[in-house]
Amino acid sequence: MTRKKIIIAIDGYSSCGKSTMAKELATSIDYIYVDTGAMYRAVTWYCIENNIVQNDVLAVDKLVSLMPNICVEFYRTGDGSVHTKLNGKDVEKEIRGMLVSQYVSKVSALRFVREAMVTLQQKMGEQKGIVMDGRDIGTVVFPQAELKIFVTADARIRAKRRYDELIAKGEVVCFDDILANIRERDFLDETREESPLRKAPDALVLDNGVLSMEEQNTWLMNQYKRVLCEIY
Ligand code: DC
Repeated sequence: MTRKKIIIAIDGYSSCGKSTMAKELATSIDYIYVDTGAMYRAVTWYCIENNIVQNDVLAVDKLVSLMPNICVEFYRTGDGSVHTKLNGKDVEKEIRGMLVSQYVSKVSALRFVREAMVTLQQKMGEQKGIVMDGRDIGTVVFPQAELKIFVTADARIRAKRRYDELIAKGEVVCFDDILANIRERDFLDETREESPLRKAPDALVLDNGVLSMEEQNTWLMNQYKRVLCEIY
């Protein structure tokens, strides 16, 4: 008998551990995992590489004309992890750097960029069996998702996690710069005109600043099991 599949939408602030918990759940229940932030990051990397963004200025007209040339995909590497590809090239390392973080809010605020990414995301979820994390998954991409989670955590806790991650990767970074970047991105994500970061009315709130990784994974798994029991 084939197991019934649902859509799980996980939205929330940047660096609040959404991806880690979403990935963990997807692996445990054999669902596809999609990190939609990586898609906006890949478009931003394209802008950086093609001089569409320079000295804090984004050449929107140039991006409009080049948008059809941008192909964002995911693939599984030999060690089983999912990496992002931009026009056939693995850009996983590039899209996680501070330069991309600095510009990604500008790029992801553009309506035509969002429309292109949302179309791709909806295609990925056509067969259900998907855990997708982002900012607008429960509100715009899959308002019909069976399980919606909205994750929050204090900005300083998030900045510390991001700092530790970057240091572990060998980047030379300053904690205060990271905290400022997180606060700025929260503000831009919440106040932009196009699909601002909002909790869907039917989303469950998870404050993961107070939970260990194990506790949050258990909580999420229990929510998944509860929804499956309720609807099937
Ligand atoms: O989750 P992240 O920090 O990697 O996301 C990078 C940026 O992309 C973030 O500033 C918000 C934006 N984003 C978005 O606007 N919509 C999404 N569904 C996912 C991310």
